Amino acid sequence: MNRKTYCVLTIICLLVFSLQAICFAEAPARLPNVKILATGGTIAGSGATSTTTVGYTAAVAPVDALINNVPELKKIANVSGEQVAQIASENMTNEVWLTLAKRVNQLLAQDDVDGIVITHGTDTLEETAYFLNLVVKSNKPVVVVGSMRPPTAMSADGMLNLYRATILAGSKEAVGKGVLVMLNDTIHASRDVTKTITDRVDTFRAPEIGPLGFFTGDKPEFYRAPLRKHTTDTEFDISRLNALPRVDIVYHYANNTGVVIEALTQAGVKGIVHAGTGNGSIGKAEYPAIEAAQKKGVVIVRSARVGNGIVARNGEANDDKYNFVAGDNLNPQKARILLMLALTKTNNPQDIQRMFREY
Ligand code: SIN
Repeated sequence: MNRKTYCVLTIICLLVFSLQAICFAEAPARLPNVKILATGGTIAGSGATSTTTVGYTAAVAPVDALINNVPELKKIANVSGEQVAQIASENMTNEVWLTLAKRVNQLLAQDDVDGIVITHGTDTLEETAYFLNLVVKSNKPVVVVGSMRPPTAMSADGMLNLYRATILAGSKEAVGKGVLVMLNDTIHASRDVTKTITDRVDTFRAPEIGPLGFFTGDKPEFYRAPLRKHTTDTEFDISRLNALPRVDIVYHYANNTGVVIEALTQAGVKGIVHAGTGNGSIGKAEYPAIEAAQKKGVVIVRSARVGNGIVARNGEANDDKYNFVAGDNLNPQKARILLMLALTKTNNPQDIQRMFREY
């Protein structure tokens, strides 16, 4: 081969290799678009000193301050924020839930939103998460996050929680798993999780059932997925609702009478969740008030104040005879949410019992 042919062949080879490199090179990974919806809570709180971990003010910092406080967010997602509410979560209402859920559904319907993070106070975080789990109409990740210490405190937990919740909301691993709760390196299903300790960072647990997974560094690791129906598989549609049927919780204890049930019936409740003793027991003294409530169309769900275990149908009460709904293993505050949504469809106890088995 002469020198000229050699040069031409070399140039052709180089061109072919370059073309291959261009064609088969992996495109740089696109950062997910994650929307952060803020509702208040300790994660947006402020304390007088760096050691103030009780007695601080919740729901002070606006969403942009939360985002700017974690500059690392920009490396993992295209984040933008919206302030949906600015409340301590003990003041959460059905109206805020409806506003929040409608906004979540609107955003997730957009092609340019991959996932949502909701910052929230920890007191009712599990309730908001379970409500959304039943009414969000998308498989895209929704992650509810909070913190037990305000951002002004030493060892504040909110920044890392927000960072990891954002990773989760932009991850493919979280797709289709329902609304998730992420605090303290641990990923929970919204149906199962509950706040178990008044003041420590490891407060969120799923008694008996356990978490779905954990964070190891920046990586979410899932070990299981929720089996109860959620999000796109539910029958609940809040898109045209401006209010939810009123449901309250009655706590049972020694020496209890039916006086609270009578008062609630007079107040016009549509449903009562009875947080019974043991396996959801109802005291004899409560029955007259319960039967009077039922005559006015009030649906009674038997739940338990115990915090663990299944309330067995026809176990500690004759549910068939009294037309009660057995609340499965939902805690009373979550049973209240399912009952409210169930009552948007029907007030037939058998149909509602079916929903308590499915969700
Ligand atoms: C709240 O729930 O808003 C206050 C408590 C907290 O966020 O930990």
